[in-house]
Amino acid sequence: MAKKGLIAISAILALFVFIVWPATHPLAENKNQAGSEKTHSDDLYTYMGASSCSGSACHGNSSARDTLRIGQNEFYIWSQKDRHAKAYEVLTTAEAMLIAKNLKIAKPAESGRCLACHAVAVHADHQGDFYDITEGVSCEGCHGPAEKWLNPHIRPGFDPQNAAALGMSNMGDLVKRAEKCLECHAGSDGKEVTHELIGAGHPRLMFEIDNYTAVMPPHWRPPKEKKNRDWLGTRLWAIGQAAAFRSQITRVIASRRAGIGLWRDFTNFDCFACHHPVIDRLRGITEQDKAGQAWRRRDYHGTPGRLVWNSSSYAVFRHVVNLIALEEGKQLEQLVRTFHEGLTGKDMPPTSFNTALTRLSALSDKLVIQVAQYTFTRQNVLLLMQNISGDGPRLTTSGFQAVEQAVLALSSLYDAYVETAGTMPEAQTIKDTIDALYKETQSGKDFNASEFEATLNKLHDRLSRI
Ligand code: HEC
Ligand code: HEC
Ligand code: HEC
Ligand code: HEC
Repeated sequence: MAKKGLIAISAILALFVFIVWPATHPLAENKNQAGSEKTHSDDLYTYMGASSCSGSACHGNSSARDTLRIGQNEFYIWSQKDRHAKAYEVLTTAEAMLIAKNLKIAKPAESGRCLACHAVAVHADHQGDFYDITEGVSCEGCHGPAEKWLNPHIRPGFDPQNAAALGMSNMGDLVKRAEKCLECHAGSDGKEVTHELIGAGHPRLMFEIDNYTAVMPPHWRPPKEKKNRDWLGTRLWAIGQAAAFRSQITRVIASRRAGIGLWRDFTNFDCFACHHPVIDRLRGITEQDKAGQAWRRRDYHGTPGRLVWNSSSYAVFRHVVNLIALEEGKQLEQLVRTFHEGLTGKDMPPTSFNTALTRLSALSDKLVIQVAQYTFTRQNVLLLMQNISGDGPRLTTSGFQAVEQAVLALSSLYDAYVETAGTMPEAQTIKDTIDALYKETQSGKDFNASEFEATLNKLHDRLSRI
């Protein structure tokens, strides 16, 4: 399966390094994005620590049990096989030290800038007796602070859907789940992998929730009822797309309002718009060199020589919108055009840009709801695959990160199709072609747009015959 091979998750168990957690949390000392001192915690409740969950009668069994609805081995799976349990540890590696050195951070494992995503970093006021920063992204990093729900949640009749007031994040709600993942895997208030961090050595963030879920060992069971299992991967993917788009818009608006330059951060642009080789002659160059000159095949959707927006949260998402809400799709297209122009420096009155942003924000809220309510079927999932695979030229001119999302989308849609509809005509050839697309997008540096478009066309032809 393309997506299963997507991310190599190492199962190496490295040594835990324990530090003495300072009484004042580093976050309290670190300036947050808006430039103001973070002197209080935003959290309402206290974080109890993963060891509050690890009892063998609770979630710490080493193999799955059948007594309850859940396997009771969640802690074991997380601690042994889930990368999140290593998130703190990676801050002590040689790579992390080098990244930190480039940023003039003394100790990454003590810096709020890193801990914000690599641990459950909370203010000292909200650290319970068993709270332990070295646990990395532990249970409460996703499920929410347990102070008020730790006891109630083991009682019969407890409903996670009604536990928000107690501080529990309902991970069964796909919108909430996607938002939670995106906080760290795309960025959010106080948690950003900016171009400065990337320039210092941090990996570029890239995310697609269905593929990323598939490579994580699940510590939960699939829904019991078939109707809830049907097209689950597609719903997760589509909701993830809508949430990622909203997240980008929300962050641009927030940083613009706060008057901080983050909205113009280079991560909002296509990396390879800047990071590509240039061949500066017209005469006497090889065909291969010609292929390396993007202007020969480019539709700039704007002015040549300007930056290209990182539209990875839109380039594929727009196909979902066009499928489920054609009218909104048209509005979106128009607003995104203004957004792109404003972002990439076209002269326009700031009010026009702000108006477009406000409307985009409202529209993205509406779209998250519409996508979450949509019912996918065999026909419309196939149609989505056909439309995405038929969009080669536009995808490649939208940038490498958009192309990457298209491949992840096709992989996710294919898997859900086979899981829910049983099989697909010419399934093996289709799967092989998606795998080929995946291989062609392994490295942005070696990406060949014409080759990619040819493979994508092949896929489109096959899918159009179904
Ligand atoms: C916005 C959240 C966020 C912030 C802030 C952040 N990281 Fe990360 N970091 C991630 C995510 C997510 C990954 C995994 C990326 C992936 O594989 O898709 C990661 C990966 C890494 C890796 C690679 C780990 C591996 O297994 O190869 C290192 C090293 C790292 N981060 C160090 C740091 C350091 C040092 C800082 C502070 C200067 C920092 N990070 C700040 C989210 C963040
Ligand atoms: C990276 C995020 C993340 C972390 C960390 C995490 N979980 Fe989860 N957890 C999820 C998601 C997503 C689900 C699936 C929710 C669903 O389908 O209802 C889930 C489901 C569960 C379920 C099943 C809930 C149900 O109603 O079926 C239990 C129990 C659980 N987690 C416990 C834990 C424990 C204990 C830890 C820590 C040892 C932990 N989780 C860490 C994301 C996370
Ligand atoms: C609190 C921040 C945080 C949240 C929330 C979070 N992650 Fe992560 N995630 C990280 C960090 C940091 C890493 C890198 C850990 C490492 O390399 O050891 C990571 C790594 C991963 C990886 C492994 C990537 C790789 O390259 O091997 C996957 C898969 C993943 N996360 C999926 C998810 C999903 C799905 C969700 C939501 C259910 C989620 N994460 C929520 C911070 C977070
Ligand atoms: C507006 C142009 C621009 C965009 C867009 C851009 N960069 Fe950069 N990048 C630069 C410049 C300028 C430097 C500093 C010069 C240097 O170190 O090569 C740099 C430096 C870097 C470095 C450090 C140098 C190196 O090769 O190790 C990395 C890594 C990097 N960028 C990755 C990225 C990634 C990933 C993205 C997309 C998320 C991106 N850049 C987007 C212009 C850009």
